[in-house]
Amino acid sequence: MVQHVIKLIITGVVFLSATIFASAQADSELPQYAEEQHLGVASCASGTCHGSVNTRKGTAIAQNEYVIWSKRDRHRIAYQTLLTAESKQIARKLGLKNAHEAKMCLDCHADNVALNQRGKKFQLDDGIGCEACHGGAEKYISIHIDRNASRAETLQAGLYPTDDPHARARLCLSCHMGTAKKMASHDIMGAGHPRVTFELDSFGVLQPAHYVVDADYSEAKWHGSSVELWSIGQLESARQTLHLIRDRLKSRGLFPELALFDCHACHHSMADKKWAASDRSDLPPGSVRLNDANFVMLIAIAGVVDPGKGRQIKAALKQLHTSVANGDDVAKGINRLMKLINAVDGKLESQDLGAMSSKLAASVVRLAASGKLKDYVSAEQAVLAIDMLLGVTSDRSRYARWLDTVYKTLEDENNFEPARFIRTMKKYAG
Ligand code: HEC
Ligand code: HEC
Ligand code: HEC
Ligand code: HEC
Repeated sequence: MVQHVIKLIITGVVFLSATIFASAQADSELPQYAEEQHLGVASCASGTCHGSVNTRKGTAIAQNEYVIWSKRDRHRIAYQTLLTAESKQIARKLGLKNAHEAKMCLDCHADNVALNQRGKKFQLDDGIGCEACHGGAEKYISIHIDRNASRAETLQAGLYPTDDPHARARLCLSCHMGTAKKMASHDIMGAGHPRVTFELDSFGVLQPAHYVVDADYSEAKWHGSSVELWSIGQLESARQTLHLIRDRLKSRGLFPELALFDCHACHHSMADKKWAASDRSDLPPGSVRLNDANFVMLIAIAGVVDPGKGRQIKAALKQLHTSVANGDDVAKGINRLMKLINAVDGKLESQDLGAMSSKLAASVVRLAASGKLKDYVSAEQAVLAIDMLLGVTSDRSRYARWLDTVYKTLEDENNFEPARFIRTMKKYAG
């Protein structure tokens, strides 16, 4: 019964935001590119608004969001990161004057809106402030506290729908993966930038979250289990990967954008000799493979909710790997995969994913144990998934020691040993 009501709320909210944000897929909907003024963190931080030191009881929100963000959230220090020796080094290698004034870096490490959209209290060195995620507050600041204003009105006034999991994923991914306009490209990584990776559910916990999904929250907003968030995150990551391949594959000259590929396809010792055939591509030894880690999880999800679609995604992905490697037109392959992703997306809403957690966990472990995730990036996504799924099925404490040994296999990505990973995965059942 409760489940049923929740499903109704979910469908209602998703439908609402889907009509308002029909074109949310476009970059222009993201807080950085929307038209509203950004008033600055100081406009949100007063003690009576979001800057309460203690958690407020009896109010719709805890009001301590600013304190959590300023003390524990790395987004707070994202701009300061641009002043470190590491960033100076990266900037120097890229021939930039410095990192903290370079659009290339600020687009992801601050709320880098256009100059004429910065209000009086706006400070670039606040880093990734409230409005970088929640949207410029110019129009909604006065109405978002008004109980008479509907959520739809507030959204129309520029509040970004962070509670809609699809929109939230696109927001996070815009910096944690990249878009047509900004990306941690291989040029930037070649200069020393860390590899970026993302998983919606676990990164949402790690951020750390400054919201609590309690009864009030559940009534007012979308909320779903970790499995739902994870699945939607994987769907959106797969979509974003395809957008990036479409927009970014052809960079310049001889080579495509290398950051779209599995880093360790190139970056490993020649003594490794670890090449093996893969069931996700028909590429011969010596080929450079796309980073398809999010598709691996998507195939696992589809395998449980719609096995036929899972097989079709796998076939379409093989095709895409081949066309990228051959330098063929990739548009057809991308469209085919987009359609399949949309079909799985359409199915997700009607599924009780929570009830499928055990099955999903077992299927991801099986994939890993059978040696199908030999590349670091897909092993990493698998482990994040297994950790989350065991949490949902309440088996996490029983598997805690095993999980520790699993995480150890991922500790050093430069010396990742697929054989050890597989051996560890095989111990799951025991
Ligand atoms: C405007 C770009 C931007 C957006 C939007 C964004 N992030 Fe980030 N995020 C960053 C940057 C840059 C860092 C690294 C900050 C630093 O350490 O200097 C980061 C760091 C993090 C970290 C810490 C990672 C670590 O290794 O400790 C987590 C977790 C995280 N983000 C989660 C999220 C989630 C969840 C969302 C969406 C709700 C999100 N981010 C949206 C840019 C962004
Ligand atoms: C597409 C978005 C994006 C761009 C562009 C980008 N970064 Fe980052 N950067 C990130 C994210 C996301 C992280 C956090 C990665 C993680 O921990 O998962 C990060 C992490 C870092 C870190 C490591 C921080 C730490 O303490 O771990 C440094 C240093 C850094 N970035 C510097 C730069 C510099 C300098 C530039 C410009 C040349 C730049 N970044 C451009 C998104 C970006
Ligand atoms: C990296 C992205 C990000 C940043 C930066 C960020 N938030 Fe959030 N915020 C979220 C997400 C995701 C949620 C959860 C979804 C939702 O409820 O909209 C959220 C939720 C909230 C909520 C709703 C809490 C509830 O219980 O309903 C408030 C209020 C809020 N944030 C205020 C702030 C304030 C104030 C700041 C700045 C000090 C801030 N946020 C910075 C992403 C962010
Ligand atoms: C197609 C092969 C290929 C792929 C895929 C690739 N790289 Fe590279 N990478 C190179 C080459 C070639 C260089 C230049 C090496 C040199 O100058 O010695 C390089 C240089 C680098 C360097 C600088 C190393 C140094 O010695 O200064 C870093 C760091 C790096 N890549 C990270 C990455 C990351 C992270 C990824 C994945 C997102 C990645 N690369 C994907 C081929 C690749």
